[in-house]
Amino acid sequence: MKEDAIRREMEELAREIREHDYRYYVLDDPVITDAEYDRLFQRLLELEEQYPHLASEDSPTRRVGGRPLEKFVQVQHVSPMLSLQNAFSRGDLLEFDRRVRRALGRPVAYVVELKIDGLSVALRYRDGVLERGLTRGDGLVGEDVTQNVQTVRSIPLRLRGDVPPYLEVRGEVYMPVKAFRRLNEAREREGLPLFANPRNAAAGSLRQLDPAVTARRPLDCFVYEVRQVEGLTLRTHSEALAWLRELGFKVNPHTFTVPSIEEAYERCAAWAERAGQLDYEVDGMVIKVDDLEARDALGATSRAPRWAVAYKFPAEEQVTRVRDIVVQVGRTGVLTPTAVLEPVRIAGSVVGRATLHNIDIIREKDVRVGDHVVVRKAGEVIPEVVRVLKERRTGEERPFEMPDRCPECGSEAVRLPGEAAYRCTGAACPARLRESLIHFASRDAMDIEGLGPQTVSALLAAGMVRDPADLYSLTVEDLVKLERFGEKSAANLVAAIDRSRANPLYRLLFGLGIRHVGERAARLLAESFGDMDALAAASREELERVPEIGPMTAESVYRFFRQEANRRLLRRLKEAGVRMSAGEPDRGGELSGLSFVITGTLRDFTRKEVVEFIESRGGRVTSSVSSKTDYLVVGENPGSKLDRARELGVKIIDEEELRRLSARA
Ligand code: IVH
Repeated sequence: MKEDAIRREMEELAREIREHDYRYYVLDDPVITDAEYDRLFQRLLELEEQYPHLASEDSPTRRVGGRPLEKFVQVQHVSPMLSLQNAFSRGDLLEFDRRVRRALGRPVAYVVELKIDGLSVALRYRDGVLERGLTRGDGLVGEDVTQNVQTVRSIPLRLRGDVPPYLEVRGEVYMPVKAFRRLNEAREREGLPLFANPRNAAAGSLRQLDPAVTARRPLDCFVYEVRQVEGLTLRTHSEALAWLRELGFKVNPHTFTVPSIEEAYERCAAWAERAGQLDYEVDGMVIKVDDLEARDALGATSRAPRWAVAYKFPAEEQVTRVRDIVVQVGRTGVLTPTAVLEPVRIAGSVVGRATLHNIDIIREKDVRVGDHVVVRKAGEVIPEVVRVLKERRTGEERPFEMPDRCPECGSEAVRLPGEAAYRCTGAACPARLRESLIHFASRDAMDIEGLGPQTVSALLAAGMVRDPADLYSLTVEDLVKLERFGEKSAANLVAAIDRSRANPLYRLLFGLGIRHVGERAARLLAESFGDMDALAAASREELERVPEIGPMTAESVYRFFRQEANRRLLRRLKEAGVRMSAGEPDRGGELSGLSFVITGTLRDFTRKEVVEFIESRGGRVTSSVSSKTDYLVVGENPGSKLDRARELGVKIIDEEELRRLSARA
């Protein structure tokens, strides 16, 4: 009897979570706070742990990733996953349409969709439950990545409404561009190799043997084809897409049904201009015959269907010359070779530099100073040198060698075994110092507003700071001596620095830039040890005992605290009043951990009052909306922040809701 009640509670929790997932990840219209969601999720996890035999196959807790695999199982596709024929011009599209009309003996309507640049997956549902997810593989045989696909929040584990007995759909798994950039930034801070572009990042994430890793990667999925369905006859592709939406799939909203190929082309031309503004990479458009019977009649070649064509956008590549190859020094001392280019316009902006990543890549591509090269700027990704036009060499080109000294401080540069990168060994290297101060002040670390790269450079040039601890003795009088500061901006910066003293320990830990200690590791360490002294005293073994902390991170943390220079820095930070213990500052805390931005005029609060209201409850107020913002509080006559918040999917609330939030939390 009791079990029955528990089973019911679990089913109800799963139903609620599914609904909230759908609202958040598919509709982009959440109705509860993250905290409320977490409570539901935690409760379900607890119950499943206590009563594992009652946990359902398609429970939303699957989203966090199951056990690692040894290798992927190969599975045959029901029908081959084909590629598409390409078109590069209006003429190519007209030619495609002529072939279609000749074969059918009549004109047809088309559906025009964005061509998402990710990797295709096949998803099979039996009785509405996700049974299997497959990669494309070689087109005939794919890999079973079911556990990984289950972690992608916009892929339904169970379908909504009237479900067919069997369904196979195809779609594209991708990584949003902003999320990709954040992931790479975090990897850079942790000294991990970077992904070249969002597509590689998505592919690498989906083809992970450990689904828990996939679960932490920000993957998303648009579904664009019904491959096989039982118990229902669909007449057109547009009808199929509408039905897929009803079933709870995320279908791209920029999908158009058009009566002729001319109009299809107009859509393509219009989107060639707009595609770069989306938060996912699109490398063209796909034009598909709408009538499904006509599709069957047209059939496919061994490579591609005859009923669809991919219109590729004009390339985002240009040819230019390498003037020089210079070496840039990052925060962790990594020396990155960078090509200085004769400036060219690519995809709407002027490019003067391109990354060459590391010496192995330079050798592999054989890039020399003076070479003509193809440079590519895909979406918002850092431009890179794709290849060298060797046929244009004159013999004057100079090969590049990595310097054996840091170009900034002259210390020895070494390549550690097993790493592609050279690193500067100088602890006092000015370039490293600059980068480490920028990191210390950054949003995810100490979050010191107004202390960006340019201010850091100015402070260093004036000799006002030599390490993070020096920041805490800066005064308004010091700052106004710098060209870029007035009284007001100086006072703002001093106040922002002052506020950072109260930050929880993990922010400081992350801000210190200890190798391999990213934001997550910093949180885990802060939680486990509680304060800086305990952490500093921990042995390698104690560090390794922290869940998720591996031997590399443990070793790196251990070594950090054994260096006299680091201990001195920490002593000085402590003396400066920087908080050295975990937990949120003791300012109350109904809103703790939440970040807010205010726009427009509020009815009951002045600007100052609302800031006080939020901060006194442990929340934080920042001036610009970013993906880290939890809530935008909107008053009358809101500014552009409102658009920005909508764009980023930040939750938008009014002052009533703000009060409710702080009462409820
Ligand atoms: S339809 C039988 N629609 O492009 C062909 N494909 O170059 C079914 N892709 O392998 C594909 N967006 O990975 C289709 N809206 C879209 C697409 C799309 C991206 C990918 C897909 C396919 C590749 C072909």
